Amino acid sequence: MTVIAVCSAKGAPGATTTSLALALAWPLNAGSVLLVDADPAGADLASGYLQGATGPGAGAGAVASARSDLLDAVHGSAVALDATGSRLLLAGPAPFPPTRPGAAPAWSRLRELDSTGEESWTVLVDVGRLPAGAGASLLAAADLVVLVTGSSLRAVAAARPAAAVLRAAEPAHSSSPRRWLLVVGERRPYPADEVASSLGLPLLGSLAWDPRAAAVLSDGAPAGRWFARTALMRSAAAVTGRLRDLADPLLSPLSPLKPDATPLRSSASAANQRTVVGS
Ligand SMILES: Nc1ncnc2c1ncn2[C@@H]1O[C@H](COP(=O)(O)OP(=O)(O)OP(=O)(O)O)[C@@H](O)[C@H]1O
Ligand SMILES: [Mg+2]
Repeated sequence: MTVIAVCSAKGAPGATTTSLALALAWPLNAGSVLLVDADPAGADLASGYLQGATGPGAGAGAVASARSDLLDAVHGSAVALDATGSRLLLAGPAPFPPTRPGAAPAWSRLRELDSTGEESWTVLVDVGRLPAGAGASLLAAADLVVLVTGSSLRAVAAARPAAAVLRAAEPAHSSSPRRWLLVVGERRPYPADEVASSLGLPLLGSLAWDPRAAAVLSDGAPAGRWFARTALMRSAAAVTGRLRDLADPLLSPLSPLKPDATPLRSSASAANQRTVVGS
């Protein structure tokens, strides 16, 4: 069981779109994945990707309060993202925002999913914009925390306080980094590794800048067979591979943590490096 919290700073860099892309790209041989929309500012997946059709389920509250019937509650409340039934979306309303009373037991309840059968579970939680002071509670509740940012100077500046909160929250005894940076649209204009270095967080990976595919996930735009082959979904598949490696430390040599934030180079030198991403 791995619980992965996905968060952002201000500026809507694409945390929700990223969370859904990761859930949809989750390898079928890697157990079940449950995406939980826990953004206290609004359940965007219900009105966006699902276009209001969230189904008859009682919602996330039923999962959090389920007793012996946890798996039934999940299947009764979550929406299947595909025909396999092993990629699920719990679109809220959620007791899961980390600063809400009752969030800690709700997250603990999710951890019990692994004991409900032979299947292993990964839970992805979109917690929205990182609330002030929530870094420690997030790291206590989740195994991994992923901060999503764009690669512009404005996006990096907006992410800096959230990155500092997460850096400060890393437990001293932690043998490997538990909070990571994911860049949406690298080289627009800054390279992802430079953004990560500037924010002082280890780089998980980057998702391609792909407005057409992103609109399918964020706004329920029509998709066809082309969707799975888009740059966005191919880059999401690469990131899921990295997340799986991180979830099993025996499988993966972890990148060293870069503790010190370094300034970004001038935008002129970054602009010289612009390339087409994900093509
Ligand atoms: N990889 C991407 N390529 C192009 N556009 C993207 C990408 N990811 C997200 N977007 C677009 O960015 C906008 C915001 O996305 P999203 O709602 O996922 O952001 P967010 O960080 O969750 O925002 P909020 O803080 O409001 O919850 C949407 O229009 C979405 O289509
Ligand atoms: Mg969001």
